[in-house]
Amino acid sequence: MTKKTLTQANGSPVIDNDNSLTAGARGPILLQDTWLIEKLAHFDRERIPERVVHAKGSAAFGTFTVTHDITQYTKADIFSDIGKQTDVLLRFSTVAGEKGAADAERDVRGFALKFYTDDGNWDLVGNNTPVFFIRDPLKFPDFIHTQKRDPKTNLRSATAAWDFWSRHPESLHQIMILFSDRGIPTDYRHINGYGSHTFSFISKSNERCYVKFHFKTQQGHRYYTDEEAASVVGKSRESSQADLFMSIEDGQFPRWDVKVQVMTEKQASEYTIHPFDLTKVWPHGDFPLIDVGTLELNRNPENYFAEVEQAAFTPANIVPGIGYSSDRMLQGRLFSYGDTQRYRLGVNHGQLPVNKPKPSVNTTHRDGSMRTDDNGGENLNYAPNHHNSYVPSHDAEPALRLEREALHFNFRDYDDDYYSQPGNLFRLMDPAQQQRLIGNIVASMSEVDNKQIKKQQVEHFLKADKALGIALAKGLSIKID
Ligand code: HEM
Repeated sequence: MTKKTLTQANGSPVIDNDNSLTAGARGPILLQDTWLIEKLAHFDRERIPERVVHAKGSAAFGTFTVTHDITQYTKADIFSDIGKQTDVLLRFSTVAGEKGAADAERDVRGFALKFYTDDGNWDLVGNNTPVFFIRDPLKFPDFIHTQKRDPKTNLRSATAAWDFWSRHPESLHQIMILFSDRGIPTDYRHINGYGSHTFSFISKSNERCYVKFHFKTQQGHRYYTDEEAASVVGKSRESSQADLFMSIEDGQFPRWDVKVQVMTEKQASEYTIHPFDLTKVWPHGDFPLIDVGTLELNRNPENYFAEVEQAAFTPANIVPGIGYSSDRMLQGRLFSYGDTQRYRLGVNHGQLPVNKPKPSVNTTHRDGSMRTDDNGGENLNYAPNHHNSYVPSHDAEPALRLEREALHFNFRDYDDDYYSQPGNLFRLMDPAQQQRLIGNIVASMSEVDNKQIKKQQVEHFLKADKALGIALAKGLSIKID
């Protein structure tokens, strides 16, 4: 690195960076030591709020390459040609731990992608699991409170977690994944990613179909047992960060096969499984995986805070050819991410280099704190106007037909099959995997200090799979009827 003169924020040289300006060798500091004051004041403000969830994370830049033609389903420019490449940022994370938490913890892993497409940023903010614990966003804050710290003890509470889960049998599918081998991946390269929600694809002829996104790791799956993880955490809290960073530094670029499942609108209206239920998967037998492309991570960020901590992903960021769906959870998320980012990073966070889209931004938004671009220059700040400077594309999606009156519809009145898919998942595991799952659940539920919660939860497991329920009842010394 070249030798450079140290400067203050105004660019003027710093005279002395070792000794404050004092009145005499033994005297106090003068208020006119502006460098000292600037240095302390800036340091005092270094921390911004961490993400309310998914605070601990690691990210890398890379490339998405189209390998197969899916233009019959979507007009999205990113998929327009075989061989087309798009820059991406992928941030991995754990969910519950704070920014300094250990990586090798049993938790869901975030898999948040930003595609810098020619039509603007498309963010796919998914996880390493195809399903989630709940299916109504109204429950998200309560759920997260049970994963974070108890208000009195300031400790994580197994009782709170299982109290919530036992009252939400729809969480069983995700619980099965969380306590399986997939619950503690050795690092971020050895996990799959899923968009999880149902999204829409809009074709050139303006037809809608529904789509789920899958990212299959080419590195294979690797996991730690609880014991192995404890010993890893004893040595390093940053095992996944180190693995990702060093692999890329060493030129070992992790890759994922990108695939989709598609469902027509007609199939969605007739299919036995609710197509917008985030606690269910679409069985591959009915909706096979379709090859799309390859995702490769090949560049580490130069600066963690600038490019990872300040990265803002939101499911609301879509581009023409991709649409939302009636998934309640997705709809809640469309609000929550931009909202938290206006608080966490500020109203102009879209101008930060890592969040800046490829095409130029042409809006009537003006001013706001920390505006860093030319603020629209001399352009008019209203629309419509006599220059026609802000013309909407009018490239609307096909109409979404809605049938019902508005009401607080209880999801459970329409789908109370909480058990088939978790039971199938258990029966798909080999005996050793089943034993580890049972051991992991028993270890966690043993910490619950309420018998009724344990009993209620074991009853859910029993309904998913009898052998599983019996084994857990035995492990937890619970009497079942
Ligand atoms: C992060 C809310 C469900 C994946 C976040 C953040 C919020 C949030 C407020 C912090 C964002 C930031 O500070 O930039 C919610 C709400 C949900 C929900 C209200 C349900 C209604 C989900 C689901 C998934 C998911 C279902 C995955 C399928 C993620 C990921 C991040 C995240 C990966 C981290 C993004 C990053 O790396 O910056 N969520 N979330 N969330 N959420 Fe959710």
